[in-house]
Amino acid sequence: MLKGIPMETKKILLGITGSAAAFKGVMLASLLRKEGFEIDGVITPAALRFISETQLACVTGRPVYSSLFTTQPGDPVPHITLTDSIDLFAVVPATADFIGKSANGLADDLLSSAFLACEAPVIMAPSMNTRMWKNSATAANLETLACRGVMFAGPVMGPLACGSEGMGRLMEPVGILKLCLDVLSGRN
Ligand SMILES: Cc1cc2nc3c(=O)[nH]c(=O)nc-3n(C[C@H](O)[C@H](O)[C@H](O)COP(=O)(O)O)c2cc1C
Repeated sequence: MLKGIPMETKKILLGITGSAAAFKGVMLASLLRKEGFEIDGVITPAALRFISETQLACVTGRPVYSSLFTTQPGDPVPHITLTDSIDLFAVVPATADFIGKSANGLADDLLSSAFLACEAPVIMAPSMNTRMWKNSATAANLETLACRGVMFAGPVMGPLACGSEGMGRLMEPVGILKLCLDVLSGRN
């Protein structure tokens, strides 16, 4: 129970972007499902190069979306309906590209369009190469989003997909789960 409200009534929109750490977004989905949340998954076209809709759907037990222009009857605007009654929007991992688009109000795919339409609390967990993380454009985009109320989980120091070590590694899913629980229970 969160604040007297059963967990199963809490809805989370989980976005996964095109990072080498995309599989950890699936791991987070598994942890969230074990907590009893209803999770809708959105995967960017770039993330589909790393994980599949089927893989995420097996974990969430629900349909997974990756296209802005849907062929599903009855819902021509998933970027709106997916954000209609959610309690939390989490993007894990969040690429430099997604962070940049979000900071600048760009909406050229399902996930970025949903972000613009979202009025729920937002958590982004950045994941990228250290040089991308240190780029002043990335820093400015993060600051813009933080000023608008977006919360960030990580990144942390550690081994990176490129073989180097440094800042930019995705925070471990258990740490991101804790922040999600804090936000959903009003502790953050
Ligand atoms: C193997 C590989 C790994 C990548 N990992 C990352 C990453 O961890 N973080 C990042 O910001 N971009 C990464 N990229 C670049 C993104 O995939 C690229 O910017 C893409 O346009 C992101 O699209 P999206 O934000 O719509 O998912 C990677 C690219 C490749 C080829």
